[in-house]
Amino acid sequence: MERIKQALEKARAQTGSPTPPAHAPARAEHVSAPAPAPAPAPLPVATPIEVSYTQTQVVRLDPAHLERHRIVSFHKANPYNWAFDVLRTQVLQKMDEKGWRTLAVTSPTLESGKSVVAINLAISVAHHTQRTAMLVDFDLRRPHVGAYLGVRKNPSLNDVLSGRAQVSDALINPDLPRLVVLPTNAPVPKAAEMLSSATVAGLVTDLRERYDDRIVIFDLPPVMAGDDVMAILPRMDAVLMVVGNGDSTQREIEESMRHIPADRLLGVVLNKAEAEVRGGYGYY
Ligand SMILES: Nc1ncnc2c1ncn2[C@@H]1O[C@H](COP(=O)(O)OP(=O)(O)OP(=O)(O)O)[C@@H](O)[C@H]1O
Ligand SMILES: [Mg+2]
Repeated sequence: MERIKQALEKARAQTGSPTPPAHAPARAEHVSAPAPAPAPAPLPVATPIEVSYTQTQVVRLDPAHLERHRIVSFHKANPYNWAFDVLRTQVLQKMDEKGWRTLAVTSPTLESGKSVVAINLAISVAHHTQRTAMLVDFDLRRPHVGAYLGVRKNPSLNDVLSGRAQVSDALINPDLPRLVVLPTNAPVPKAAEMLSSATVAGLVTDLRERYDDRIVIFDLPPVMAGDDVMAILPRMDAVLMVVGNGDSTQREIEESMRHIPADRLLGVVLNKAEAEVRGGYGYY
């Protein structure tokens, strides 16, 4: 905990941002990367992908399954729901201010809570605002979105990326009118190459541009796990960094932040924190 706090404090001091109040839940800390990110590699030419959402399959979610996987924002009555409502408001304010529509959720290292945060945030956006939220599982090495939601969709993004299915056939609408999910069923070989391909470039462009009021949230792998994040980052408007309490060292946090362009780092979520928080939940 101390090491994360120190790394976060250090990053905060570099931007001169004030310390948020201690009671702020699930907060996004507005911090900057300590060093400028390397210049992005030339982007592949976007290949247009036709996406139609008229026949999106509606699936019912199991509340008990969601709860077991810490998906707490689906039911308004869940006592921990508030944490993601606060995060959602912070994220949307910043994204609207900047005209951003695509948000990458990543972390320095494995198992920091990226997928849990990305899913809860997408649900919260769809639940409590008039915005449409789309959640895309772009962790092509360890895809977990479908499993955490308790859905297995065929075809999935795997089939879209290999050219065997249309995006419209892989989308699901999990019981919430303004939420659409694009799950990935299995790890994709050569994930970084795929994420920097023209196919993915075309897909991201289409998902971003099709509806004005849509926020597209991409669940990514960790920064330190390879070059996947670097490959897709030039296509993302903004980045939300999830740091799991005790999951990453100060060096790993600082090193990963160095790869995120300072002007696109939306904030840092400290996850699994010991809670001086309402109900003792691990977000603040
Ligand atoms: N706030 C939290 N408190 C306690 N456990 C949590 C919290 N958030 C997530 N977890 C748990 O930590 C584990 C990893 O969460 P999750 O899969 O969301 O992380 P991830 O960063 O997406 O992992 P990966 O790197 O494998 O994609 C899961 O078992 C999840 O239930
Ligand atoms: Mg994950």
